[in-house]
Amino acid sequence: AETRKYQFNVQMASVTRLCGTKSIVTVNGQYPGPTLFAREGDHIEVNVVNSSPYNVSLHWHGVRQLLSGWADGPSYITQCPIQPGGSYVYRYQIVGQRGTLWWHAHISWLRATLYGPIVILPPAGVPYPFPAPDEEVPVMFGEWWRNDTEAVIAQALQTGGGPNISDAYTINGLPGPLYNYTCGSSAAAAQETFTLKVRPGKTYMLRLINAALNDELFFSVANHTLTVVDVDALYVKPFAVDTLVIAPGQTSNVLLGAKPDALPGARYYMEARPYTNTQGTFDNTTVAGILEYGYEDPSVSSTNLPISAPTLPQINDTSFVANYTARLRSLASADYPAAVPQAVDRRFFFTVGLGTHPCAVNGTCQGPNGSRFAASVNNVSFVLPTTALLQAHFSGRSNGVYTTDFPAAPLVPFNYTGTPPNGTNVMNGTKVVALPFGATVELVLQDTSILGAESHPLHLHGFNFYVVGQGFGNFDPVNDPAKFNLVDPVERNTVGVPAGGWVAIRFRADNPGVWFMHCHLEVHMSWGLKMAWLVQDGSLPNQKLPPPPSDLPQC
Ligand code: C2O
Repeated sequence: AETRKYQFNVQMASVTRLCGTKSIVTVNGQYPGPTLFAREGDHIEVNVVNSSPYNVSLHWHGVRQLLSGWADGPSYITQCPIQPGGSYVYRYQIVGQRGTLWWHAHISWLRATLYGPIVILPPAGVPYPFPAPDEEVPVMFGEWWRNDTEAVIAQALQTGGGPNISDAYTINGLPGPLYNYTCGSSAAAAQETFTLKVRPGKTYMLRLINAALNDELFFSVANHTLTVVDVDALYVKPFAVDTLVIAPGQTSNVLLGAKPDALPGARYYMEARPYTNTQGTFDNTTVAGILEYGYEDPSVSSTNLPISAPTLPQINDTSFVANYTARLRSLASADYPAAVPQAVDRRFFFTVGLGTHPCAVNGTCQGPNGSRFAASVNNVSFVLPTTALLQAHFSGRSNGVYTTDFPAAPLVPFNYTGTPPNGTNVMNGTKVVALPFGATVELVLQDTSILGAESHPLHLHGFNFYVVGQGFGNFDPVNDPAKFNLVDPVERNTVGVPAGGWVAIRFRADNPGVWFMHCHLEVHMSWGLKMAWLVQDGSLPNQKLPPPPSDLPQC
């Protein structure tokens, strides 16, 4: 194993998209940001220097951070933000993971433009458990606003409503040809299109990452099947699809076989467009990139051939999503066993959903009856502290920072997916669940229909978990557990709680520290759909959180 060192300078840069130029926060002036490369087992050191005017911290989404909680990155959870002019070195090792993850800013909504891939190869000499691809390509989905990104964020947070919807989705930062925008008097649409040149008969591994702020996405490539081999940097039993679905925070490696007999210059659209079952306003546009059978012969022109487009599911096709996710199974092989906890020490039942706060500022609240939108877990809307939870925990000064009385189940049960109860106001709190080291945990996440059923991609920091069951309606604690898959359930770090349904996960609390769990839709996270787990030290030396690094930023 090696140590891989990176220099990340957080700085403003001017970027032009959709005919407009604006200044955005970037790493090293790149949008999307640079790729981190590692092999499983490598150590990573990223020296982050903040030359931007914003407080910032970076999160290595999906990296387990075994005994390295100080490097996890969520502001006010594991660290105070890096202030303008400050710096911090994130040090961690990649353990037991190989595939694709990603990094992103973890404060306010700065991840809108601050994100990039983490490519993790198997250790040297260890093959993939599937035929090796000829080429590997990151494919990141994002969102682009013509307006100043900070103004969009400020507007969303001040009104307590939803954000102004984005003007385009992007693939690797590029909106693609379907937007048909024209710049000035020029009749031709500007060319901001991701193009993947392929050769007949070769295999390509697309490293898919959904970095969009607020939208789950369908993705398909016209006339080509995709073989899913990995999700969230963990292998799955391969299966072929025409279309897949990927939620914000999720990653997936898929193999694409280029046609052996394609015409020179043949082109096919790859397209992504949202999945949502909400009624409100959202960006329902389509981003396209182009798969092009490229030839070295410059006399071959592709522009006179018709271009094929894929057929994507309806925007609210919840059963497509359920069927797709039900096909995901971990490899559960001799080389990659599934360590599903068979016995459970601690059981939790969390409702996740929307609600309201009374409006404090007159005339600016957009929720029902002039309220302010909120979101909660077990009716607790999480409030970020003004110092980092992990520092408070480590120094034994929790007083006034957090309490450990997070409810293990809703205080007042109700028909979660039926007619919602009358009071929809949530309570504020900075509450955590304390877990003894090594405890096996079962957590059922139940969507609620308060203000409308909605799919929530829940992300857990510090762990991978097994998705042992999912279903629609209310979770049935008597009959549903009998149907749990404890043999080869998919293992991941971000799971969609089905709209109007539930999902059950299991994990082992083998990583001491404070670990954030939240909806990866940025708007729901801002409204409070988040909480934290506090995993205590174990008794052995390698079960204890080490002291903080000396350059850890202070609040
Ligand atoms: Cu990708 Cu806490 O986030």
